[in-house]
Amino acid sequence: PIKLIIDTDPGIDDAMAIFYAAGAPDIDLIGLTSIFGNVTTEQATRNALRLLEWAGLSGVPVAQGAKQPRALPAFPPSHNVHGDEGFGTIPAAIPQGKAIEEPAAAFLVRMAREHKGELVLCPIGPLTNIADAIDLDPEFASNVARIVLMGGSLEEGGNITSHAEANIYHDPHAAERVFASGAHIVMVGLDVTHRILCTAEDFNTLEANAPRMGGLINEMSRFYLHFYTTVGKHDGCSLHDPAAVIACTHPQLFDARAVPVMVSCDGETSGATLPAEDTRPNTDVLMRVDAEKVKRQFFDVMSALD
Ligand code: BDR
Ligand code: CA
Repeated sequence: PIKLIIDTDPGIDDAMAIFYAAGAPDIDLIGLTSIFGNVTTEQATRNALRLLEWAGLSGVPVAQGAKQPRALPAFPPSHNVHGDEGFGTIPAAIPQGKAIEEPAAAFLVRMAREHKGELVLCPIGPLTNIADAIDLDPEFASNVARIVLMGGSLEEGGNITSHAEANIYHDPHAAERVFASGAHIVMVGLDVTHRILCTAEDFNTLEANAPRMGGLINEMSRFYLHFYTTVGKHDGCSLHDPAAVIACTHPQLFDARAVPVMVSCDGETSGATLPAEDTRPNTDVLMRVDAEKVKRQFFDVMSALD
């Protein structure tokens, strides 16, 4: 199994991604790091702990991350998409466990050294902690095997503005630092996640197969689906964050284009991911997906969770 750390702002699709990682036999989840985005960083830490407890993985460490973006003022959490506490209508409740003392960036640096060349990092929120780890250790970018991030868009346009995807938009300066770092980066953006749509029926079936864990996800998904189909006018909700975790272990389900990526950091296009004009290394940008196979992979693992 791959050694995986997920950097997360849970969030409904983050919850799906973490439960997926908990159940996937080819993933060894060695930690979670928290970040603001869908919720505040403090709430993200509590939610990460709670998700691990639900999944029976309370021994997996959670390290708390940055509380605000690098250069922009803090954004209000996305309550309209993910609910007041991040899990739709489900109260997050108070976790029994606590985060470790070590801050997220220091934890990432230490884990990348300990598992040099092996650690896969999957950020599914704004990239502040990852940029901080890169600044903390000049070898971090080469110590990690790869960074498979959910964020950005090359041809699909944005979801939070017409140009920007939410995770990149919330800290464009951090994202730019990450894309320019020289780490092996796989970008799992809206070009593929907008093709992977789920309906209420998909989640009802999941609950029937896995009443406890699937029931939690089904309940959360109702809130998320409501946003996507009313405000977003989509035919279902996107599996954004689970797609990134699945891309860590199943790259053959996607087609990538190698492009040097940069991030616009101001003006109307702030948060947009664009082809860079300098000589930075390429990012593997996922452009096409076998959506049916990704969904099958997701629901197969999730159905076996209870
Ligand atoms: C991303 O933004 C968040 O709302 C989701 O959890 C996902 O990580 C999609 O743009
Ligand atoms: Ca997320």
